Amino acid sequence: MRVRTLLNPFSCQQRFEKAEWPTIFPDFQGTLAVEIGFGTGSFLVHYAERHPTHSLVGFEIRHRLVQQAEASIAAAKLTNVHPVEGNGQYGLEDMFEDASIDSVFIFHPDPWPKPRQQKRRVVTPAFIQLIERKLKPGGQLFIATDVQELWEFMNEIVTTTSQLTATNNDVFWDNDYKTRWQEMTEEQNRSRFYGTFAKLF
Ligand SMILES: C[S@@+](CC[C@H](N)C(=O)[O-])C[C@H]1O[C@@H](n2cnc3c(N)ncnc32)[C@H](O)[C@@H]1O
Repeated sequence: MRVRTLLNPFSCQQRFEKAEWPTIFPDFQGTLAVEIGFGTGSFLVHYAERHPTHSLVGFEIRHRLVQQAEASIAAAKLTNVHPVEGNGQYGLEDMFEDASIDSVFIFHPDPWPKPRQQKRRVVTPAFIQLIERKLKPGGQLFIATDVQELWEFMNEIVTTTSQLTATNNDVFWDNDYKTRWQEMTEEQNRSRFYGTFAKLF
């Protein structure tokens, strides 16, 4: 069983400037996707290769992992991915206009199982409401985890504290969802819990 190396996201207090996406992405075409907690960056590379017209921004608090992702992105010669070191909760709030994002991805977030540590979880009512505000109408939030208790916690928050509506997107889960933790979950024959939530208006 893989042991999780955890870094308290509140140790990353850096705030960000509002981003000018056409100056960051040479081929910006208006479709923005964001991953919170990209780990090794395998989803960033996989998604960016499959969707060359989309612009993908990723946030990760662990410096070594950001360096690893930057190396993979450079090796794949991708110009439609922008990895950012820092707390994705601040990044989403500071860098993006409201109603500007098409997709937000949160895959296998750290579970922080002890009750006194649960405030470090990425999914909180305030963060889900922020995601809802930053999504375009028709935008979607994708969440996956291998921890059942965390799935129930996140699903409850999304469905009770936002207007985001559970929907189906089998094409995404069959073809686009590929992360280091997803692969480990499959290798170890453990259960996977996932859902898509849409901003309908
Ligand atoms: C268990 S790993 C999963 C990585 C990847 N999503 C995957 O599925 O392979 C969770 C990652 O989220 C990062 N993380 C936790 N809180 C974060 C936050 N607030 N902002 C950005 N990254 C965060 C952690 O450093 C860790 O690398």
